Amino acid sequence: MIPSNVRNKIVQDISIVEVVSEYLPLTRKGNSYFGICPFHDDKNPSMSVSDSVKMFNCFSCNTKGNVITFVSKYENISIDQATIKLAERIGMKINTNISKEAIKQERLENIMNEACKFYSFYLRNSEEGVAALKYLHDRGISDEIIEKFRIGLSPNLSDGLYQFLIKKGFSELDLIELGLVKQEDNNRIHDIFRLRVMFPLASSNGKIVGFSGRIYTPSNQAKYINSNENVIFHKGEVLYNMHNAALPARQMDKIYLFEGFMDVIAAYRADIKNGVATMGTALTKDHINSILSITKNIVLCFDGDEAGIKAMRRSAKMLSSYNIIPEAVVLPNNQDPDEYIKEYGAKQLEAYLISKAKPVYYWLYQLAYNKVIKNDIASVEEFKQSVFNFLSEINQETIRDYYLNQMASDLGIDINSLKKDFNNVKHQYQSNQNEIVNNVVLEPTKEVVKLSEIKITKAIRRAYQIIIKHSIYDHKKLNKYLAYTQEFYPGKDLMTEFSIIQNLELEVLANPKLINTSKFAANNINALSEEPSFKEYIDLIINDDLIDISNDDDFEQSLDTIKKFIKKIKTRDIKNRVIRGDEKAIKDFTASKKDENNI
Ligand code: GTP
Ligand code: MN
Repeated sequence: MIPSNVRNKIVQDISIVEVVSEYLPLTRKGNSYFGICPFHDDKNPSMSVSDSVKMFNCFSCNTKGNVITFVSKYENISIDQATIKLAERIGMKINTNISKEAIKQERLENIMNEACKFYSFYLRNSEEGVAALKYLHDRGISDEIIEKFRIGLSPNLSDGLYQFLIKKGFSELDLIELGLVKQEDNNRIHDIFRLRVMFPLASSNGKIVGFSGRIYTPSNQAKYINSNENVIFHKGEVLYNMHNAALPARQMDKIYLFEGFMDVIAAYRADIKNGVATMGTALTKDHINSILSITKNIVLCFDGDEAGIKAMRRSAKMLSSYNIIPEAVVLPNNQDPDEYIKEYGAKQLEAYLISKAKPVYYWLYQLAYNKVIKNDIASVEEFKQSVFNFLSEINQETIRDYYLNQMASDLGIDINSLKKDFNNVKHQYQSNQNEIVNNVVLEPTKEVVKLSEIKITKAIRRAYQIIIKHSIYDHKKLNKYLAYTQEFYPGKDLMTEFSIIQNLELEVLANPKLINTSKFAANNINALSEEPSFKEYIDLIINDDLIDISNDDDFEQSLDTIKKFIKKIKTRDIKNRVIRGDEKAIKDFTASKKDENNI
């Protein structure tokens, strides 16, 4: 992990305007530069870049950050990698005592990349490859797709890959750890993947971390085998194709989540490039966090069979706790996208996926309703149970009401008795939930006393301190604050608070894995304290017992204070520009006047 003072220096020393203009054209307007935002489907330049604030900000999609986050987002690389890349520009040697783990990780990724090249070569240059290529082509997978997804073939040899990699100088232990080869009882080493079509699995920065191999000749072996979990491959984190899908998904502000990676490839053939899939596992929090860092518009595209419905329900439940209601599409006749394309063609799949996306609950209801036999009480009960089950997992009362009414009307039964039935089920469900909540002891609320001095009013500084302390311990609160603060520079009197928050944002981006663990806070405090100018201030805030991080009301009130403050600054800024005769400002000003009158 690169220390935050290094990142600070980079943000301070490098011109963000210069860097961004290497990626896209910028034009100057006043003190800022504007360009077409690469993070959404932008028509007019809505992204501003400013060297005085050292930030970029898209007024339209609200993506913003500093030079490091820009490079990281644009190139879809980690914050650390972006930092290293930028450091090179200014000839800065990053004196990270790059940890042993990082060195090992790079070595292992390198091996995986070589293995991928070997499999690709083998597909193109072997006898077995002829049949494997035919299999792929027959499935509609063109050479272009083979290249794009780096599909290969593992040979029909007991140790072909092993020999290749050992000759390249890689260590046997590494190969074993990566699950590419295995030591047999007789001590001989043999390849794990034999005569399978090989699909490399990449992490979100595009580094290959594992493989999935599919049989393509008649065989009684498992259809797919995946690499073992290992230091660089965690099934619960990998989303197939995420490294390619991130940018289009950001631009379209939408992502498709498929059940299998073959579906992702099928969708790609239908020109849907913002598709990802889990590696045969259920959706995890890590998956969700990685998706939500790109877009919150998620379309589930699972099979319409029992397993698919279950996965859909489970995913909807998980996302509901993030206050997100995904959409879903279920293809007809239980087909998966791949089978659908085969029957109806790519154009038709594209049209279907785009036009048939509906809130996931619509599908859960419809799929259950399709099974009802009207006069069969048992089947009606089963239908009720399955709808009640997903309704009790929803946070939104209105959606629940909507489907209860729908059900009453579809079944021709009385809404009140239906609600009674439902409430019985719901209470059971909630008593389970309450047990969990009751284990958390809430501290009595303390009155917040204003602490400090200065020109910025005490209330504003205090609000910042409260927000900072809450954010150190809870990234969700940080995000909430950030959502309010479009491009906005509070002035140099609040520079320390402002920088601390920027650093916290970076910390969250750089350490997605620490989120939701107690390590998160510890890590933030350490990182912030590395910066001497922050240390004292952070200590002051952390040790201020009057800021009680369990008191959400304090946090909300502070947010309100800051919101009003921002509004004031913005109005003042507009007024200044009006005085200078800036036409857009005059328009904004008239609009803001209207706003004020409406309040
Ligand atoms: P094709 O049969 O090649 O079209 O693949 P599919 O995408 O239709 O596969 P399916 O719907 O059967 O499975 C969806 C996902 O579950 C796959 O992408 C795999 O990740 C996983 N999966 C399926 N079969 C196996 C298996 O035999 N072993 C393992 N480990 N995973 C499997
Ligand atoms: Mn399939």
